[in-house]
Amino acid sequence: MRNVTKDNITEIFMGYMGEDVNPRLREVVGSLVTHLHAFAKEVNLTHAEWETGIKFLEHTGEISDAERHEFVLLSDVLGLSSLIDMINSRPEGTSSSVLGPFHISGAPPLEIGGDMKGQFEGELLLAEGIVMDVDGNPIEGAEIDIWQTAPNGLYSSQDENQDTFSFHGIQTTGANGRYAFTSVKPVEYEVPTDGPIGDFFDACGRHAWRPSHLHFIVKADGYRSLVTEVFPDDDPYLDQDAVFGVREDLVMSYETMPAGSFPDGFALSGQVDGSYLRVKFDLTLVRE
Ligand code: BEZ
Ligand code: FE
Repeated sequence: MRNVTKDNITEIFMGYMGEDVNPRLREVVGSLVTHLHAFAKEVNLTHAEWETGIKFLEHTGEISDAERHEFVLLSDVLGLSSLIDMINSRPEGTSSSVLGPFHISGAPPLEIGGDMKGQFEGELLLAEGIVMDVDGNPIEGAEIDIWQTAPNGLYSSQDENQDTFSFHGIQTTGANGRYAFTSVKPVEYEVPTDGPIGDFFDACGRHAWRPSHLHFIVKADGYRSLVTEVFPDDDPYLDQDAVFGVREDLVMSYETMPAGSFPDGFALSGQVDGSYLRVKFDLTLVRE
């Protein structure tokens, strides 16, 4: 086409794609470019603005490596990761929510009733629940990969003072589908702002805080894996999560338990005299 105009460029782009191109690729790339063209026309994008955007993406690439996934963080703060989670979530099961960049594979086993708090300061939290199917039947042998920040708001991979797997553990449910562990009460924290995403937050007048949460990946044979996180209902950032991860069914309540009430069956049983927080949260998996 020798007469490319603002009005026909999208159609010409679509025509350039091969006849036998994968139909899903045609749909996804075609729609992406259609929206990109429409966006540029809608805002009358200038050369200077386009250049700013290109430099931002270059910077995002430069700072990324095997450990730092700045493009994932960009997707998170744009709400794209959460939108994809919601598009692909099944309403019958527990909602999924962002994985985030701080999950590490290979966490050690955490026995039922095991402890992740160790010697760390912070309020003791007892978390427990049942992994079940959509009919409420407990799922035996479900594997729950659990991770959270230390009381300083840092994940182990961000903090040289923590062991590799501190505040990480993998628990396998028994016949009653139950999981249970002790830890510290998670704290709210800021997503990394020392790269281009920090500049983006500044430019948009946004903050980088996430409400406190516990992360779970739940896997069981014959079920869809669930990547999720749960949030306490009294967190100040619950309604303004920087990565849009909060869903109504992922909000939980801590109960303050009186001194002397710590139950049997935990690694810390017999060692806890004071009050502590307790939360019950069930996780529902959907069949594959
Ligand atoms: C997280 O929850 O670990 C997280 C999620 C998205 C971006 C940064 C951190
Ligand atoms: Fe997190």
